[in-house]
Parts: sequence; C-alpha cells; structure tokens
Amino acid sequence: MMDALSLSPASWAAGTVRLPGSKSISNRSLLLAALASGETEIRGLLDSEDTRVMLAALATLGVSIVPCGPDVLRVTGGAGSFPVKEADLFLGNAGTAFRSLTAALALSGGHYHLSGVARMHERPIADLVDSLRGLGADIRYLGAEGFPPLAIFPARETPSGELRIGVRGDVSSQFLTALLMALPLMGRTTQIEVIGELISKPYIEITLNLMARFGIDVTRSGWQHFSIAAGQGGKSPGLLYVEGDASSASYFLAAGAIGGGPVRVEGIGRNSIQGDLRFTEALQQMGADVEMGDNHVVVRAPRSGKLKAIDADFNHIPDAAMTLAVLALFADGVSTLRNIASWRVKETDRIAAMATELAKLGATVEEGADYLSVTPPARLNRDVAIDTYDDHRMAMCFSLAALGGVPLVINDPGCVAKTYPGYFEDFARIAAPVIAIDGPSASGKGTVASLVAGRLGFNCLDSGSLYRLTALAAARAGLPLDDEIRVAQVAATLPAQFAAGRVMLSGEDVTDAIRAEECSQGASIVATLPDVRKALLERQRAYRRAPGLVAEGRDMGSMVFPDAVLKVFLTASAEARAERRYKQLIEKGMSANIASLLQDLQERDARDAARSVAPLQQCADALLLDTTDLSVEQAVAAVLEWQEALRRPRAASGLP
Ligand code: DC
Repeated sequence: MMDALSLSPASWAAGTVRLPGSKSISNRSLLLAALASGETEIRGLLDSEDTRVMLAALATLGVSIVPCGPDVLRVTGGAGSFPVKEADLFLGNAGTAFRSLTAALALSGGHYHLSGVARMHERPIADLVDSLRGLGADIRYLGAEGFPPLAIFPARETPSGELRIGVRGDVSSQFLTALLMALPLMGRTTQIEVIGELISKPYIEITLNLMARFGIDVTRSGWQHFSIAAGQGGKSPGLLYVEGDASSASYFLAAGAIGGGPVRVEGIGRNSIQGDLRFTEALQQMGADVEMGDNHVVVRAPRSGKLKAIDADFNHIPDAAMTLAVLALFADGVSTLRNIASWRVKETDRIAAMATELAKLGATVEEGADYLSVTPPARLNRDVAIDTYDDHRMAMCFSLAALGGVPLVINDPGCVAKTYPGYFEDFARIAAPVIAIDGPSASGKGTVASLVAGRLGFNCLDSGSLYRLTALAAARAGLPLDDEIRVAQVAATLPAQFAAGRVMLSGEDVTDAIRAEECSQGASIVATLPDVRKALLERQRAYRRAPGLVAEGRDMGSMVFPDAVLKVFLTASAEARAERRYKQLIEKGMSANIASLLQDLQERDARDAARSVAPLQQCADALLLDTTDLSVEQAVAAVLEWQEALRRPRAASGLP
C-alpha cells in the first residue's frame, strides 16, 4: 500500500464518473436479504472494505451468497434466522455493519462475539445496547463499558404483548436503523420512541424505503415514534438495484463547482432515495449550476466564476457536508457548517481532523462542539501533506484542494478502500480532461493542438509521431513493416522522448526524419496493424495528467480517450491543405510541386478513409472545424471558445 499520493496542480475538472454503489444501500440490502424469506438478486452492489466486511460476516453466519456476474449477487434469505448460531465476527471499522449486526444477532438466539479495529472500539454503542436489553437481549461489554467489543447471548424471555422501547437518536441514526431492521425478528408488534432530536434523518428514510421493498411496513409519526406490526418477517423483492453512492458523488460534483465542469456523475438522480443528494442544494446555494436527470447529475461552476460562502445546518447530510468544508476554501467569504456534532464519533473526530488539515492549507478555522467555520486563505499553501486519519472521506475531500492549482500530498491514500477503492483513478481522470483533435493529413491539427495545449497549460500528445517513430525504428531494425508481431514489439518498447518540441529516439534527434515522406508512408502501414495500435494504447493514455491533455490523431476520441470532454474534427479542403504544405516546404528551402502535393493528399485521404483499422472519420460526438478559410489563430480561438462554452450551462453554451 502506498504511503502517500502526490496530486498535481489541477485547474479544470470535467468529465463523467460512473459511481460505485451506495454503501448505505448495499449493507442494508445485504442484511435485509439475509433475514428475508426467498432469494434476492442484488445488482450494483458496492465492492469496498465496508461491504466486504458485511459479506464476510453474513457468510460466517451461514448465509448463502453467490456471485453471479460483475457486481451481481444472489442472497438466500434465512426467513428470520441465521443458520450459524455461534460465531466470532471481526467487523473492521464498518459502522453500518457493526450496529445493524449487533441488533440482528442480539435478537436471533445465538452466541456471538463482535469486534472491530481500535477506532471501532472507541465509537459509542451503549444507546443501542440499552435499547436491545429492553427487549430482553443479553449483551455484554468485553472492553470498556458502552463500547465494542461485545459478547451476545440468546435473549431472555420478554413479557408478552406489545413491546415498547426507547432509543437515543442524537448520537448516531445507525442505532435506530439497526433496531428497525432487526425488530421484525421479534415477531411482535413493537413501538420505538426516539429520545432526543433524531439526527441524520435521511438515513432513516433509506432504511424505511428498503424495508418497504422487503414488504416490511413501518408506520411513523414524525421522527419520534415508529411502529412495526407483528408478523412482518420480510419477503424478498426478487431483484434489487443498488443506486450509485450519493456521498461519493459529492467529491465530483464539488469538483465541477470548483473546476468549471461540466462534471457528470451517473448512478444517482432526481429519484434517488439517498439523502446526500441534497448536497446539490448546498452547491446551488453556493452558486454552482446543477442539472438533475433521472439517473445523473451535472455540475458546472457558477457563472460568476466564484463560489459564494455558505452558512447552514447540515445535520441532514453529515457525510457530504465534509465535502462542503473543503469547498469552503474556494468561497468568497466565511462558511459555517452547523449542527454536525455526529462528526466527532465517526471514523475519526472529523471536526478536529478537518480543522487541522484545512489550517495546513492556509484557512482560518474555528472549531466548536458541533460546528466548523472556515475562512479561505487568499492563496492555498503549496505542497501541503494532508493526514487522513484512516478516514476515507478525509482523503477524498482533500483531493479537491488540488483544483486550487497547488501540488498536494495525500497521506495513506489507501484508506479510500473503505467505500471507494477506485476513487483516485476516477479523480485523476476528472482533474485531467482531454481535448481530442483529429482530422485529415495536413489539416493543421498538429499546430492547432500544440497551440491550444500551450494556451491551457496542458500536456500535448502528437500520436501520429508515435506511429512515425515506430515505422522509423522498425525500418532501422530491418523489419518488414507488415511483420505485425515484431513491429508491435518495437512499438511497445520505443526508446522515444519528447522534449522542447524535439522528438528523440535513443537520444538521437529524429524530429525531421520522422516527417520525411518515406516515414509517413511507413507510419500509414504500421498504423493499420491492430497489435501495434494495442501496444501504443497505454503509452498514449500515460500522457494524460493534470491539468489536462490535448491529444491529436486518428482514434484519440474514439479509442484512446473515448471520455474526452471535447472532440474536434479539424479539416480543410484538399486544395487549402496542399497549399499550406507547399508553403511549409518552400519556407524550409525544399523544392515542391503543388499539383503533386494535392494528388498525394487526395490519395492519402482515400486510403485513410477506406482502411479497416482506425479509418479517418469524424466521430459522432466530434465538433467539425473547417479551417479552409481560417488562420491558425482563428482555428485555435475556435477550439478555446468551445472549451469555454462547455463550462456554461447547456442552454447558454451554444454547443449542439
Ligand atoms: O498525424 P500523422 O500524419 O503524423 O500520422 C501518421 C500516420 O499514423 C498516418 O497514417 C495516420 C496514422 N495515425 C493513426 O493511425 N492513429 C493515430 N492516432 C495517429 C496517426
């Protein structure tokens, strides 16, 4: 596992992220499916440490869980009981698994031992244990009173008739969630009274929503009384889709608000049952442009360019509110997050951790028992090393600071595996948008690409030069250019370097050599070999890094960077291209004949368009830029104008 991850300064965030499944929905669904009658197929389940903990625990308890296809599982329900009556369960730092299994096991008539990591043993559980004891459960503390680890024994007899219990609601809503999901096991009508103001209410809504899908009806009056009628054991709905994780979405949505956008997340939308979707309301209050679809959300920066400071109660979105604390670094004044005391009993004391790390970046932070005020610095401090406290959300939130254009280090980045193992790969893509430019030979795409890259401070990839270099290196090695296997080996191991506008092969400057006609011919031959294209694929993708990449060449938008945020097909009439090439050659003091140049180009166009591998064609989602009557400057300006337009709300962008 990596100790630290360096993030490059980024400036523009744009692109699409397919969200991993919701942790809250995944773990609730697994437990409900395990306790229900019938078989449940769960699709889109999150694969992360917290869900693996739950899956492993259920497997230990004898529940049959069979994977069938990527992120699809089939769970056979035990109709109200776990097959294994005696087990020792290690639950890591997964709060959702620990609390809900404590309740379910305490009411299921077995003998169990539940423990977790050291931090889990510092997270209070007394309120839940007290409520369960009120139902006759026999739970004992094995360490400090009021905290895990726990020993659970079969429950004692409870008085007959309707049961009434109380549960504190102001420390963690997971206690109420755990009780609600376990109470059907009692087989009796049960009334729950919430003591104290219930926090994080939207998480209870997720619980009730999923229970309803398993046919368990909970009636409630306000957020104080809940009641579950007798005889509702839970019945599998058959098939259950897990939505994308709305808390995980917050990082990308925030990135769009800071870094221009558009950033599109897929897997949540207006019909989502997750409360953290309301994070988008906070973004709107800060001035960001939010577009909501059935199963996607798109965010762009405010039209004014500057985010407004926010002062509000975030009790309903405690997890996503962490993202707002980092977003506050980019706001126009002091932001205050109120009513967030639950942060103190999460993976770490999140109020303290957030205050410490924001201060490192230069913010002035005021920390209260249940609030946090953040005054952004004039400029973020560079090269700060962020500590993450074994808290996935600390690591994910703070990656956003890189969008302030500062290099930054995230310590112990692997902690994101708790809920989002692929987070940093997804963030890296969003923080390094690609502009793909293709077009016929001599259309000027190389010149335009390198000027656009220069203007934006982006990396530039001239992919044609890799094919040219491959042809040159293969010819020098005496290989026939159609020897696919060996030419592909050459491509995979090209000792090529690009520096200061020069192209080097094994230390030799071949900038001019690869432009020679012979090499162009060779390149067009090797470029038709599928193995050669495959060998160059990862090499080309490696050019993508923050703050972005302009990639020029044949299949940049279709194969190499299909997620490019802007695809341009740059062309000009054959006559105009022949004339440009003619002028170039004459300027270099070479002899040239315009008629034969035109003929060459026309023949090459025909060959390029007809070839079966990566033929020359305009991608369906590419914008056409005809430069026949444009100067290079005008063509560059047109591409930059499209890039700007992307960040404007769709209706105002002028883009098709
Ligand atoms: O863009 P260029 O003229 O430097 O490209 C040289 C050859 O390589 C040309 O035949 C097109 C081909 N090529 C390709 O097939 N795929 C790319 N991404 C870039 C170039």
